[in-house]
Amino acid sequence: MEPSINKVANRDAITEEVVAVFAESDFIPERYYRPDDVLAGIVVGPDEDEAYDLPVVDMERLLDPELAEAEIAKLGSACRNWGFFQLVNHGVDEQVVNEMKDSTLRFFSMPLESKKMVEIQDNGFEGYGHHFSRLGKLDWAESLILLTQPNEDRNPDMWPTNPSSFRDALEKFSAEMTNLAMRILSFMATDLGVDQEAFVGAFRDRQQSMAIHRYPPCRHPDKVIGITPHTDGLGLTLLLQLDDTPGLQIRKDGRWFPVQPRPGSFIINVADILQVLTNGTYRSVEHRVLTNAEKGRTTIVTFYSADVDGMVKPIPEVLKLNGVEARYKSIKMLEYIKGNFAALSDGKQFIDSLRITMKPNIS
Ligand code: OGA
Ligand code: NI
Repeated sequence: MEPSINKVANRDAITEEVVAVFAESDFIPERYYRPDDVLAGIVVGPDEDEAYDLPVVDMERLLDPELAEAEIAKLGSACRNWGFFQLVNHGVDEQVVNEMKDSTLRFFSMPLESKKMVEIQDNGFEGYGHHFSRLGKLDWAESLILLTQPNEDRNPDMWPTNPSSFRDALEKFSAEMTNLAMRILSFMATDLGVDQEAFVGAFRDRQQSMAIHRYPPCRHPDKVIGITPHTDGLGLTLLLQLDDTPGLQIRKDGRWFPVQPRPGSFIINVADILQVLTNGTYRSVEHRVLTNAEKGRTTIVTFYSADVDGMVKPIPEVLKLNGVEARYKSIKMLEYIKGNFAALSDGKQFIDSLRITMKPNIS
């Protein structure tokens, strides 16, 4: 049994007033007013840094015996240094992706009363509403969050029936995301030099959830944030962007690197549990979303959870292989999830509290 993560999230409903605020976007109400989150840190421009471009990993090369070694090294380096990469030639069924895109855009374009059919309930984690609020502040976005796997954890009441294509599209897309995640994880295992089963097994049949976001345009992109700076709390994240509106930024070496949307690609990132599993070899990196003055932006984000026998902890084989001590405390999955949500609404990163302070190391 996977632990229940309902009743622990802090999400606000989307009301007619919110719809009006988003549509008008002239007056920014107090709870959306976030200039500090938008203006914090330096944003790197395209010509300022030769290492500007987020690494691009090619699935066809990963699968080609002659090219695999170099491509796996690229994947590994991206996970160690950026915590993020773009995946091209990913092999995900195009029709499935298109049906999911189409259903998503149709869902968001419906009047509020239709979207409210799957509205968040009682501080629940699932359903339609705002994203998680942090320190009481709200993001400039509407989000549909759903538990999509395993099947028995699905909550059919929260799956939109309008448009009528939505459920079928989501079901197929969810299955494709599992295949994609498992493939990528097996290449990560090769890069890490760890036994496939010891590594991939930590993700197999674990919970999959999705956050489907729409960021409305805002006339004051310097005053509101699409998503607060955060790291992802689960294991692996796969992001599909539905348009070419920029917005996602990744923090690297203290600066924000905007991701240039690349049609037909996925953006994949290491999340907190994967950082713990690899004992810090792969990095879960902070990111945020800015809004755009002219154009809306829509994304479908798939999260994979992971654990080692119900615990969040470094994989024993990884420690043995590298002959190192654990840098993170072990914690039960349910406690991890609870702690993560509590830290989230306080604007903290929960894995910081799991770090074991090490004696200075000369290497
Ligand atoms: C997230 C996230 C980024 C985006 O949902 O955790 O970081 O571009 N989304 O929607
Ligand atoms: Ni994220």
